[in-house]
Amino acid sequence: MNQDEMKREVARAAIEYVETDTVIGVGTGSTANYFIDELANIKGRIEGTVASSNASAERLKGHGIPVYNLNDVGDIGLYVDGADETTRHLQLTKGGGGALTREKIVAAASEKFVCIVDDTKVVDILGAFPLPIEVIPMARSYVARQVVKLGGEPVLREGFTTDNGNLILDVHGLSIMEPSRLEAQLNNIPGVVTNGLFAMDPADVLLVGSSSGVETVR
Ligand code: A5P
Repeated sequence: MNQDEMKREVARAAIEYVETDTVIGVGTGSTANYFIDELANIKGRIEGTVASSNASAERLKGHGIPVYNLNDVGDIGLYVDGADETTRHLQLTKGGGGALTREKIVAAASEKFVCIVDDTKVVDILGAFPLPIEVIPMARSYVARQVVKLGGEPVLREGFTTDNGNLILDVHGLSIMEPSRLEAQLNNIPGVVTNGLFAMDPADVLLVGSSSGVETVR
């Protein structure tokens, strides 16, 4: 099974968590796209969705699936999204697609976060994948200097603007031994909107696709 097939398999497995007549939080990225395509097959069974990015909203609408504003729906039962890295403790790095802030908001507003990954994403220690940080444009240099003090090497994601009109710094060179601590430290820097660590509030269920099938980690 190749990586795309593994992504499709975990996306299919996540459909099991969808409850009838509910609103589903939907993530962003290639794995989440497979989930959206699977959701299209059962769209008559759900009330609608809240999307974590404009790209996912467009894909959902393209399938004729209703997309609601988070402010109009209140709390959500289920959020399904991929990750760039995950530990077996369900702590994640996200934001490779730049949608980290909306992803963190929809995940926080959801009762259960089911994270779907192929087995290439599972690591012992987060940090090999550069950690994305969304920053307010005027704070770019200031935040970068603070990140250097914390031991990271920030690189501006050239030519990229988030759905919120902000910039992304991708932080290289971190070996993240205390993910929750770093998540809080980074979020405390003025000018940081959020960072891609999902450690203080990790996923609830991790579905890992591999050539031998889909493993569930809780
Ligand atoms: C989007 O901003 C990210 O958080 C994605 O969820 C993450 O990068 C996983 O993407 P893929 O499924 O494309 O690897």
